[in-house]
Amino acid sequence: MTAKQSYVVAAEAWQALESSIIYYRGRPIGTLAACDYSSPSLNYDQCFVRDFVPAALIFLIRGRTEIVQNFLLETLRLQIKEKQLDFLEPGRGLMPASFKVLHQGDEEFLKADFGDHAIGRVTPVDSCLWWMFVLRAYVSATGESSFAHSPEMQKGIRLIIELCLSARFDMYPTLLVPDGACMIDRRMGINGHPLEIQALFHTTLRCAKELLLDNQENIKIIQAINNRIPPLTSHIRHNYWLDPEKLNVIYRYGSEEYGEDALNQFNIYSESIPYAELSEWFPEEGGYLAGNLGPSHLDCRFFALGNMMAILSSLVMRQQGQIIMHTIEQKWTDLIGWMPMKICFPALKNRDWEILTGCDPKNRPWSYHNGGNWPVLLCFFVAAAVKMDRSDLARQAIAIAAKRLHKDEWAEYYDGKNGRLVGKEARKFQNWTISSFLLAQELIDQPKYIDWISHD
Ligand code: GLC
Repeated sequence: MTAKQSYVVAAEAWQALESSIIYYRGRPIGTLAACDYSSPSLNYDQCFVRDFVPAALIFLIRGRTEIVQNFLLETLRLQIKEKQLDFLEPGRGLMPASFKVLHQGDEEFLKADFGDHAIGRVTPVDSCLWWMFVLRAYVSATGESSFAHSPEMQKGIRLIIELCLSARFDMYPTLLVPDGACMIDRRMGINGHPLEIQALFHTTLRCAKELLLDNQENIKIIQAINNRIPPLTSHIRHNYWLDPEKLNVIYRYGSEEYGEDALNQFNIYSESIPYAELSEWFPEEGGYLAGNLGPSHLDCRFFALGNMMAILSSLVMRQQGQIIMHTIEQKWTDLIGWMPMKICFPALKNRDWEILTGCDPKNRPWSYHNGGNWPVLLCFFVAAAVKMDRSDLARQAIAIAAKRLHKDEWAEYYDGKNGRLVGKEARKFQNWTISSFLLAQELIDQPKYIDWISHD
């Protein structure tokens, strides 16, 4: 693509993004998930908290801070503030998956979906975690610490941290969540302790630590955050890490070990690990974070967003981050293919697909969440690659996306093992596809923006 062509594409993308802005009582507060009027809208006519993240960042970069501020304030108003003892309301601290503006006479109000309307009634655990991420980016971009220091914002932050750190059943440093609690918002065998939520949880703790005022009211919460970050970090770095060497250790694991000295603490049965496929697949010096870990359960699938967020928040060590990038480079066809990048690899097939997705036809092998390619992941890949000094990989990925996204009218996702087909039910003019593409270009041109979304 020539410089002029890419300028035209970027200008069109920006215009499409602008035309998707949602107004509430005259103020811009977010963007529609998609502006595809040829497909049934389902809930794509709503503003999703997670979908707005790349848009928020691009708006911040371009000085359009008002929309991000309004988004943060309005979603904070929707957050559940009262403690619940019955099941009729979502838990305190939770934020909705999405919301839309409804009209009643001359009045406008916001209707939020906490998963109570969503397909499969999935819980949006990630929303409040993404909210904190956007708040921290907003403060970094504008320098307005006072915005985050207002009593309402401080309370919102505390409620999120309380929700994450409060009473629970298990003793892991990670968060226990139901299936479909994040970007993959349908049944995909990611209940328990999925990587994406753990990486976002870690980011949230680090952002909250920066944003909370050091005062009497916050003292206990700050202490709790400080107590949680080290065990969470070391648990993920050690127990989620997979590389050829670790694979060999797992392969030779004993089982049924009791007590503190157990090597195989989670009682993983090596027969449950696809070690034959993995030992062939792993490049030399390769490695990445596994998708999930629980009792006798190690999900060895590669999940892109969790791995990229772990690099950005420094949940992994720098060397591990570099190894992840090296793995992507060596396994480019599998993990990037014709559209950056694969949401998870490999796809669930046959009996696994039947059992873990409940025979979901949208999530059949190499489609949608089950091994589809999602252009929204481009910006996270680019940010992580640049942070790991692999701008070369970031540029290659952007070039691949640039060739197709505009032509394919900003498709939501791609299908096929190599991600070559526009997704069977993919929406067009999907806004996080558009904003991710714009953001990826800004991040490669001006890496200083990565500081807004990354931690050392
Ligand atoms: C799909 C995606 C989800 C996204 C939503 C709106 O449900 O799985 O992550 O937020 O569409 O784009």
